[in-house]
Amino acid sequence: MKPSITRRKFVASAGISALAGRSLIALGQAPQVLTRKTIAPVVVSAANGNKSKDNAGMTCVAKAFKLLTSGADVLEAVVAGVNIVELDPEDTSVGYGGLPNAEGVVQLDASVMHGPLNRAGAVACLEGVRTPSLVAKKVMEETDHVLLVGRDAQKFARNMGFKIEDDLNTEKSRRLWLEWKRRTDKEHYLNPKDRSDAGRRAALTMLAEGLLDREHFYGTINCNAVNAKGEIAGVTTTSGLAWKIPGRVGDSPIIGAGLYVNGSVGAAGSTGRGEANLLLLGSFWIVEAMRNGMAPKDAGMAALKRVVANTIEKRLRNSRGQPNFNVMFYVLDAKGTHAGVSLYEREGKNPARFALCTEHGPSTAAAEALFSGAPED
Ligand code: GLY
Repeated sequence: MKPSITRRKFVASAGISALAGRSLIALGQAPQVLTRKTIAPVVVSAANGNKSKDNAGMTCVAKAFKLLTSGADVLEAVVAGVNIVELDPEDTSVGYGGLPNAEGVVQLDASVMHGPLNRAGAVACLEGVRTPSLVAKKVMEETDHVLLVGRDAQKFARNMGFKIEDDLNTEKSRRLWLEWKRRTDKEHYLNPKDRSDAGRRAALTMLAEGLLDREHFYGTINCNAVNAKGEIAGVTTTSGLAWKIPGRVGDSPIIGAGLYVNGSVGAAGSTGRGEANLLLLGSFWIVEAMRNGMAPKDAGMAALKRVVANTIEKRLRNSRGQPNFNVMFYVLDAKGTHAGVSLYEREGKNPARFALCTEHGPSTAAAEALFSGAPED
């Protein structure tokens, strides 16, 4: 099924219906042609949306922008964009070559949401398909459901014609998993607490040694766009937390947490510690704040303050009492105003950035940050 927008929805969203019953002649004006305000199209995403490239040298945001300005459906455009990152074996946070779970199995999460149709689809814990965002889109298009999980999500993908692979590890992701395993499983697990402490210590050491990028630990790409007609859509896709307990699902496939779109208000999506965002449903929170009049940046920053207020467990706070992890949100409204916001100004050594594409081309920009510095090692 191809998403389409009915004339009724178009008229309603354009605000034209409100004028329909009023006579222009009665208002003493000459009849005039009503033209719809056009929006400057924009695509925003996580920073990896301007890094991985397809064979033509296009990044996610550039591809999505090109498609949506050539008449493609806005959701199709952003999904085609993130497919580039999902298929990039060098991005260890998304799709093929994503860092696997604690047992060495790559399990992927993804969600999509289509503003004009007010429909969504998602998959969680999906194994064997390189592009989970396309399976999420099929859930939206081909079923009456929003979320399919695990082995049955894979069966659904097979039935939809997707190629199922035994293993989505690359040489790089397997090598990193083996290194983590070597550091944590030397004498087999003594007890769950020791194991989780050892796992965290090993991961932090690997981050400090530069084996891992901090942004690839939780990873993820979210990509949202608005086209010239003001139609909005978004997608989030991830391999989730590196070396997670098998079956762990983060915020990315949960509508309202890792992604939310309201067709007449805007879109928001996230990267970073999914557990923190699941306790807030941050993307829904931000879109609702915009619906109540907040600008994208203010809504994003307000949501980050909620993350801080929610983080009451000592083990999750640093020596300054702040959350010792990062969360970022990528936000745009129906007018194309956009923002990237981050708990911290840096992710490890790198500045927290987001990607965007406008008529001026693809670029990255510094995210607005709540705290200076980076989470402590
Ligand atoms: N935000 C991605 C995850 O926590 O899985």
